[in-house]
Amino acid sequence: MKGKTMLFIDQIDIKGKKLLFRVDFNVPQDAGTITDDNRIRAAIPTLKYALDQGAAIILCAHLGKPGGKVVPELSLASVAERTGELLGINVLLSPDTIGDISQKMAAALKPGQALMLENLRFNPEEIGEKAEDRGDFGKVLASMADVYVNDAFGVAHRENASVVDIPRYAKECCAGFLIKRELEYLGDALREPRRPYVCVSGGAKVSTKLGILNNLLGNVDDIIIGGAMANTFLLAQGYAVGKSLVEANLVEDAQALMLKAEKLGTRLHLPIDFKFAYSHEAVESDGICSIESVPEDALVLDIGPQTIINFVALLAQSKTIVWNGPMGLFETPAFAEGSLAICQAIAEVKDAVSIVGGGDTDAVVHLLDLAEKFSFISTGGGSFLQFLEGKELPAFKTLKECVTQ
Ligand code: 3PG
Repeated sequence: MKGKTMLFIDQIDIKGKKLLFRVDFNVPQDAGTITDDNRIRAAIPTLKYALDQGAAIILCAHLGKPGGKVVPELSLASVAERTGELLGINVLLSPDTIGDISQKMAAALKPGQALMLENLRFNPEEIGEKAEDRGDFGKVLASMADVYVNDAFGVAHRENASVVDIPRYAKECCAGFLIKRELEYLGDALREPRRPYVCVSGGAKVSTKLGILNNLLGNVDDIIIGGAMANTFLLAQGYAVGKSLVEANLVEDAQALMLKAEKLGTRLHLPIDFKFAYSHEAVESDGICSIESVPEDALVLDIGPQTIINFVALLAQSKTIVWNGPMGLFETPAFAEGSLAICQAIAEVKDAVSIVGGGDTDAVVHLLDLAEKFSFISTGGGSFLQFLEGKELPAFKTLKECVTQ
């Protein structure tokens, strides 16, 4: 009989079994050197648990977007090595994903041993949009193990073979502790948040955030909007934002969102001043301006000092904070102040649940070395956004459907 509740790895007997893990080890690299291994670290507790229970583990993962072809620079070699260092055992790397060598290596694996298969996305079937494009890829992967464990929150929104097909063929399937934690924080903590509940939304584009903002209206008390996405809202309010980045086609959506917020009792907070420059490539600011006086030829590239004071004061009163997206062009030090101040302010709020998600936001937190001060840093980028939009992600739908009770 098909059940509807996802199982977790500690709810099934894995002793002496072979486990096929889908992990998200899509980590940034510079010339083959991993520059941020947080995603690997986040999956280690599940992998250690499995090894301690006497299981053998086979890891499958993707790196970058090789487009279904072998791209040597996107090999998982350094990822396998780093995983081995963190686990304290040798992690073998198979040179292919489902070929003869992988099959033999998987068959020979003994309890307590670990094998990583080469980049899933070297195979076009992994990313096939329709089930027929994905062929038997997931079925063959499933046949290499007794149990499928999904611990890859970062790809939970992808209809990839390793996410939605393997569990359909696996004898048993479940999710790992990384996913459990993501669901605890993004699901449970935000369903009944401690109040005031504040969402901080930034980054370049409103288009990628409309879904989340709409879904949060009426549930969150306040939404702070910064980054270039704020410009579209300011334009919708009738302000001139010079040459700043805007999504003019979304002005009506921004207006509708502001009206809906008012109806549902969620307060929106927009910047009232900025640091500006005359070029996107500028390394220095050309000054500070209020929202009423953005120079015609200028781009606003960070929130200004008065806005920082306002946002920080609001955050200091909050009890639940969700943050996605920087407040400005933080990659350029002259325009990083707003993002860093917000990060510091969230880290300093006493007795609050603070949740961060999305690649750039995570980068700000690590720039200040404040990760320990946050309640939870999601490993998801696109999946984090889609989860908070209230969508049922394909990975979870499949894991629930595949539970045999
Ligand atoms: C991510 O980096 O957000 C995940 O690994 C998903 O990667 P993708 O956007 O290439 O599917």
